Amino acid sequence: MLEVKNLTKRFGSQEVLKGISLAISEGEILFVLGRSGTGKSVLLKNIVGLLKPESGQILLEGREISKLSEEEYFEVRKMCGMVFQHPALFDSLTVYENVAFGLRRHFPGMTPEEVKKRVTECLDLVHLEGVEDKLPPQISYGMQKRVSLARTIAVEPRYLLFDEPTTGLDPVTTNAINRLISELSRKLNTTSIVVSHDMHCALEIADRIAVLDQGQLIALGTPSELLKSQVPLVKDFLAEITEEDRSRWLS
Ligand SMILES: Nc1ncnc2c1ncn2[C@@H]1O[C@H](COP(=O)(O)OP(=O)(O)OP(=O)(O)O)[C@@H](O)[C@H]1O
Ligand SMILES: [Mg+2]
Repeated sequence: MLEVKNLTKRFGSQEVLKGISLAISEGEILFVLGRSGTGKSVLLKNIVGLLKPESGQILLEGREISKLSEEEYFEVRKMCGMVFQHPALFDSLTVYENVAFGLRRHFPGMTPEEVKKRVTECLDLVHLEGVEDKLPPQISYGMQKRVSLARTIAVEPRYLLFDEPTTGLDPVTTNAINRLISELSRKLNTTSIVVSHDMHCALEIADRIAVLDQGQLIALGTPSELLKSQVPLVKDFLAEITEEDRSRWLS
């Protein structure tokens, strides 16, 4: 479905991605974990075409997309929604208008009533009620992150790329968003890549987990495979997992 082959990306003399290969199948949830500055966001941005790789291929349903022109990418972006690490909302538009903006652009035939229904549904999904008329600077950072999530899922992309969707959010909202990611993939058969620091939540909802370090994939496997990994950095990431949880995921 979505395949990355031997992807490399550099900025000047700094080689950030050093030959990444991975394939994600339909409906799968893949978590990507790794230390700060290791190339996770750069990987997602290459997949959605915001950055161009130096070499390698990105195949979306068999089609090579890394060398498409900006216009050709429009179709790809309809299929691939990305939730950015930082919310990047339009500060001069209300929360409602931020979510409605992409909907109207993607589906010009939608009536105002249909737009309203969908915007309301999506804001409910991310537990945001009563802030439709506020501007982004008037709501908290965590609320802005959830607006950005609502904006992306509103157009029902078949592929969803999340860059740290829950970092900086409270535990209750974090759980709700993780549940939402897993529900979306089950109900709409959405294929998801989730960049995260949270091993616990990766073990809970991922089908597979990839660990990136210094631009290379150092581990890739199911939660139970990862729990058995002997790679030192993977073990470090697993240090916070209790024995009880470990045996639950291993069984
Ligand atoms: N547009 C850019 N121009 C130059 N260097 C960049 C650019 N984007 C990222 N980098 C560099 O690439 C490296 C990887 O950055 P990236 O944002 O992918 O890290 P990350 O794994 O997402 O980290 P974090 O967990 O802190 O978000 C960093 O050294 C960063 O400085
Ligand atoms: Mg990042």
